[in-house]
Amino acid sequence: MSNIEQTLSIIKPDAVERNLQDQIKQEFINKGFEIIKEKKIHISKEDAEKFYKVHNSKPFYNDLCDYLSSGPIVVMTLQRESAVMENRKLMGATNPIDAEEGTLRKKYGISIDKNSVHGSDSLENARIELDFFFKN
Ligand code: CMP
Repeated sequence: MSNIEQTLSIIKPDAVERNLQDQIKQEFINKGFEIIKEKKIHISKEDAEKFYKVHNSKPFYNDLCDYLSSGPIVVMTLQRESAVMENRKLMGATNPIDAEEGTLRKKYGISIDKNSVHGSDSLENARIELDFFFKN
């Protein structure tokens, strides 16, 4: 039974700044993801606040929004079987210190903030996050 899904991936400012986007895109392709849509953008703090609004009660919210709006990012629609879960597996734990060997955050992440990639955490949030960046 096929279970083709789409999920949102963001290559965050720390990775774009180190020019890692092509290498990270190749990692997705190697794991069977198709990059359906892609754009490089620099979002405002207001947009970062909207994007991360589920975290607005967290102590790290302000820094997180400052960070996501601090430089260019690459946003992508990724597609494959079980894309949401497979992307989360490939990314690894939120904090690079805890991430398993071979995961993107282990390989490229610098800190819990500068963890190189974001991925939707559920199919429902994937739809919301894809609409946020790619509607119209
Ligand atoms: P991301 O998957 O983009 O979702 C929210 C981000 O908040 C997360 O990655 C981390 O980069 C950042 N963050 C900063 N501090 C924390 C924390 N204590 N717990 C979880 N996420 C954090």
